[in-house]
Amino acid sequence: MILVISSSLHPDSRSRILASACISRLESLGETVESFDLSQTALPQCDGMAAYGDANVQTLTSLIKKADGILLASPVYNYDVNSAAKNAIELTGKAWTGKVVGMMLAAGGQGSYMSAMGLANSLMLDFRCVIVPRFIYATGESFEGNSLADEMIQERVDTLVAETLRLAKALAS
Ligand SMILES: Cc1cc2nc3c(=O)[nH]c(=O)nc-3n(C[C@H](O)[C@H](O)[C@H](O)COP(=O)(O)O)c2cc1C
Repeated sequence: MILVISSSLHPDSRSRILASACISRLESLGETVESFDLSQTALPQCDGMAAYGDANVQTLTSLIKKADGILLASPVYNYDVNSAAKNAIELTGKAWTGKVVGMMLAAGGQGSYMSAMGLANSLMLDFRCVIVPRFIYATGESFEGNSLADEMIQERVDTLVAETLRLAKALAS
């Protein structure tokens, strides 16, 4: 199973459109997909203690544990993923151990394209995640309304999905 996590809390999020494109691609390939949208299912702030007992945190933790691969969609905020993505990872911690993780970012401009690297490093160091060395990075001009309108970004969606599946299957066998 591939889990797609969308972390933007914006009602008209562009990274959520990227996450949906990955879900559609996975479904068209006949893969089992689960999704978790942080704008739809609220998580508490990580306090390192009681928050771990929250029912939504436990649901996300068990989805992460079951996943063969995880695709994380996030806005770029301050040259990083948003705090909601970071909070979700703080809350679910060790469930990420050894997971294959792919990332996609929506940004305001072209200059923040390395913004997933801080999180990539932390996932590798903390949880020995295998980071898919393909990223999606899209700015406003790649979207029209609620749709992806950029063939190159669609190709990147297809590649990210293909590479995530290839690594997840290779490591599972
Ligand atoms: C608090 C905040 C910080 C941002 N920081 C950056 C940034 O560092 N680099 C950038 O390219 N865009 C930045 N942006 C623009 C967002 O990345 C852009 O609006 C993106 O579409 C947000 O993703 P979303 O549509 O999925 O919510 C920022 C926006 C906000 C609200």
